[in-house]
Amino acid sequence: MIKKSLLATLVVSALFTGATANDDMKKWLRPTEVPQPTNNKLTPARIELGKLLYFDKRLSKNDTVSCATCHSPARGWTDEVPTSKAVGFEGRVGPRNSPVVLNSAYQRHQFWDGRAKSLEQQALGPIEADVEMNMPLKELVPKLQKIKGYKPLFDKAYPGEGINKETIAKAIASFERTVVSTESPFDKYAKGDKKAISKDAKEGFSLFKGKAHCVDCHDGFNFTDGSFQNIGLHDGNLTGKELGRYNVKKRAAWYGVFKTPTLRDVTKSYPYFHDGSVKTLKEATVICSHGGRFEHNVKNKSDVMVDRHLSEAEVDKIVEFMKSLTGPDLDIKVPTKFPQ
Ligand code: HEC
Ligand code: HEC
Repeated sequence: MIKKSLLATLVVSALFTGATANDDMKKWLRPTEVPQPTNNKLTPARIELGKLLYFDKRLSKNDTVSCATCHSPARGWTDEVPTSKAVGFEGRVGPRNSPVVLNSAYQRHQFWDGRAKSLEQQALGPIEADVEMNMPLKELVPKLQKIKGYKPLFDKAYPGEGINKETIAKAIASFERTVVSTESPFDKYAKGDKKAISKDAKEGFSLFKGKAHCVDCHDGFNFTDGSFQNIGLHDGNLTGKELGRYNVKKRAAWYGVFKTPTLRDVTKSYPYFHDGSVKTLKEATVICSHGGRFEHNVKNKSDVMVDRHLSEAEVDKIVEFMKSLTGPDLDIKVPTKFPQ
């Protein structure tokens, strides 16, 4: 009799944990739609036009640099150099590591310090920046208007709106909304294919959500909660770009904080952190699980950035798990012919 009721309890609790496990997995699955503003809904004409603009080097002053120079599909939508060094306009050095454009459509803020609120607002920044494309918009607009082949494409994408900085930004943003992560082994696992990832990766996922507290910031489908954090990469007083979001507004809580990046396709987006100072996922994991690079004397470090006392084997398992977040390359045909 006792045995029977024990069995019943076990069955019930097994069913119960099964159900919560599935519910728990839901938040990691892709939302049904890519977020899009009401005044710039995705259409094939807008995406096609935006793709041409994204790859067209004529958007820079001397026709040598396109968006893809720094955010290349062949290099995980980034440039794999610490701070966009050799690649900017006339080789000028930008102050930041190029973040991945992949899944930027799901972010509430753009840039490491969050200074742009939408992809539309973001797109025009690099065109004008002298370390990037060095092309004043008041020169770019007439330059594009003179390229006859662009007119019908703008007419089709944005009827009656013409070629101007708003439509240029809207088209590029539309293309960026198609640069999204593909189905990774982890996604298959989240949908119920228990064999899609290794035993180590599964244990790494448990550590990620549990003991290591990574999920406190890297949460949800895009593995970021969109928050800004100071994870203790520097100690003492900060200056210049290291002030992060504090440069956008001098709020005490914004001192030295940077945007929590996505971890999707993270194997392709090295080097890591806003300053590109870290080469491997293992090193990044060690920093993130040991209370930052500097444990003490860091102003405004996040309260959850404390030493989690992980063994090396545990760190390796978390790395295995992060590797399972990489999907096949997105199938995007890089344009070879541009409007003349
Ligand atoms: C010379 C290299 C360079 C070029 C050219 C360039 N970018 Fe960037 N991009 C960067 C760097 C560096 C950052 C990070 C800057 C920061 O956060 O302050 C960035 C940030 C971004 C972001 C924000 C991503 C995020 O997660 O916050 C997007 C989106 C983006 N660029 C798109 C573009 C587009 C579109 C173009 C072309 C119009 C372009 N970039 C041209 C280097 C470049
Ligand atoms: C307090 C919030 C927080 C926690 C907890 C956290 N991270 Fe992060 N993580 C961040 C932020 C913010 C950055 C970017 C920091 C910067 O560049 O200044 C980052 C960067 C990273 C990067 C580099 C990604 C890139 O593209 O540059 C990796 C990898 C990473 N974290 C993994 C982890 C792992 C693994 C854990 C758990 C052991 C973890 N993080 C815990 C907030 C957090």
